[in-house]
Amino acid sequence: MIELRKITGDNIDEVIALEVEKNQEDFIETTNLRSFADAHMMNADGIPATPLAIYADESAVGFLMYIYDTLDHESFENEIFYGKKSYFIWHIMIDKRYQGKGYGKLAFEKMLMDIETMPEGEAEYVVLFYRTSNVIAKSLYASFGFVDTGIIQDHSMLAIKKLDGKITESLESQGKKCKLSMS
Ligand SMILES: CC(C)(COP(=O)(O)OP(=O)(O)OC[C@H]1O[C@@H](n2cnc3c(N)ncnc32)[C@H](O)[C@@H]1OP(=O)(O)O)[C@@H](O)C(=O)NCCC(=O)NCCS
Repeated sequence: MIELRKITGDNIDEVIALEVEKNQEDFIETTNLRSFADAHMMNADGIPATPLAIYADESAVGFLMYIYDTLDHESFENEIFYGKKSYFIWHIMIDKRYQGKGYGKLAFEKMLMDIETMPEGEAEYVVLFYRTSNVIAKSLYASFGFVDTGIIQDHSMLAIKKLDGKITESLESQGKKCKLSMS
């Protein structure tokens, strides 16, 4: 069973210790520790950031984070989503020992289900960047309906999904048990 749990004094060390393979480090660009620090800085600046630990049964296996912000970067000026509120997936990783077991996909789905409740406010889109060489991430995001925008920054593609409906193909409906724990 996959759960998303708040990061507390009890699990912060476990989350910081999680790591990807050396050749995957470019895909995430930042460590879990740095992302957690970013979350605190953004929250202090009034940009809601949600960092969560990914648990499989009782083991911490990964980390993810999303923020709630306006898509107002100058490079988006000619895009239909310019100026629109969105949830931005800032970071997602599964520790190298636990990859390829379905945890990333289940955790991603849990996160999207959470985002669909608009926990920080209304939004039209959910967006993310992925390295164009990261074929696993690309296919994972495409399987949840993310579409490439063609906007590439620092070798990373901006992909976007409109938040106008529920995830159509729920893993739970396929009989895989998951639970969202935010407490
Ligand atoms: C990307 C990542 C989060 C996916 O998590 P995961 O638990 O390893 O992936 P899952 O086991 O849930 O599999 C997700 C999909 O990727 C595919 N996949 C997983 N490992 C794969 C591999 N080594 N080769 C090819 N496909 C693979 C699976 O087949 C699955 O697709 P399917 O359900 O259609 O079969 C994880 O691999 C990771 O942390 N990678 C390094 C950091 C990273 O790239 N983060 C994303 C930054 S944008």
